[in-house]
Amino acid sequence: MDQAPDAHDVPLQNLHVGVTAAMVMRLAGEEAAHTDAGRTFVAKLDTGSGREMADHVAQQWPHARMHFVLRKWQLWTWMNAIAVNTPAVGRQVVVLGAGWSAMGIDWAHHCAEARIWEVDLHHQADKETLVQRLFPVVATRMRMIEADLSNLGMLLMGLRANGWRADRPTLWVAEGLAYYLAPDHFAALLRAALTFHPSNRAVIEFGLAHHLMRDDVRARTAAYHGYLASHIGLPGLQSFDPSEFCLRSGAIPLSWADPSSMELARNGRTLMFRSPEDSGMRMAVLGPA
Ligand SMILES: C[S@@+](CC[C@H](N)C(=O)[O-])C[C@H]1O[C@@H](n2cnc3c(N)ncnc32)[C@H](O)[C@@H]1O
Repeated sequence: MDQAPDAHDVPLQNLHVGVTAAMVMRLAGEEAAHTDAGRTFVAKLDTGSGREMADHVAQQWPHARMHFVLRKWQLWTWMNAIAVNTPAVGRQVVVLGAGWSAMGIDWAHHCAEARIWEVDLHHQADKETLVQRLFPVVATRMRMIEADLSNLGMLLMGLRANGWRADRPTLWVAEGLAYYLAPDHFAALLRAALTFHPSNRAVIEFGLAHHLMRDDVRARTAAYHGYLASHIGLPGLQSFDPSEFCLRSGAIPLSWADPSSMELARNGRTLMFRSPEDSGMRMAVLGPA
């Protein structure tokens, strides 16, 4: 962390976070961030709007809470492994659908040479202001961009205008985003992202297509998504058939993970997810074909 938050004359106001983001942060708790800086950032957010939903989800769908914890852990683990193998990739990171996630802030603090671009439809101006106030030095290596990721041309224009270099390796991160983009748009986004440089990598998290889920997991997922839809008006969340997705995006999967493999790697044993079929959540590291 480059600066004590209290050093400013004007006190920082806590920013109010939307219901779903607040719910995820409350459920992930300490695991919502990976560094002290990330935790400082999260502590500055007002997650009160997600209290009721977090309590309900924790009780009804403990799997959902575990998904949040595991996906953040797996993302961080893979990002580190990729950056160790090919350091240049870890120095240009684009966080797609970043929302209020602390991932970019964590990475900027963890990797002193990294430049980070965060992209989302909303809230990026507020997020940038908060990051500049909390971490003025690190903030010079971060850019927050408001753009619609289903418009590839606008995304690339925004990135280039903010100093992103297509001719340098880039790590693209998409956590919790695939549910919101039409599969065609997500595939086109990943195809473009991976094409610019042979060392480019993408780390993604997504939900399996319903026909690929076991009946009880499909029912549990549908009930959870139905609850989100009725409480916050979310439209149907998107899901994926990975082989179809790889065909459409041209991406090659270099690693796969499901919650049971993540639990095993993280905790040395499986607790909630005994086999891949026990969850519809999947993650992958993708490279260019
Ligand atoms: C479930 S949140 C995940 C946020 C963050 N990655 C995390 O894991 O905490 C999904 C994010 O995707 C963003 N999003 C959805 N559709 C988008 C689009 N078409 N363009 C840009 N961002 C989008 C939403 O605004 C939201 O912040």
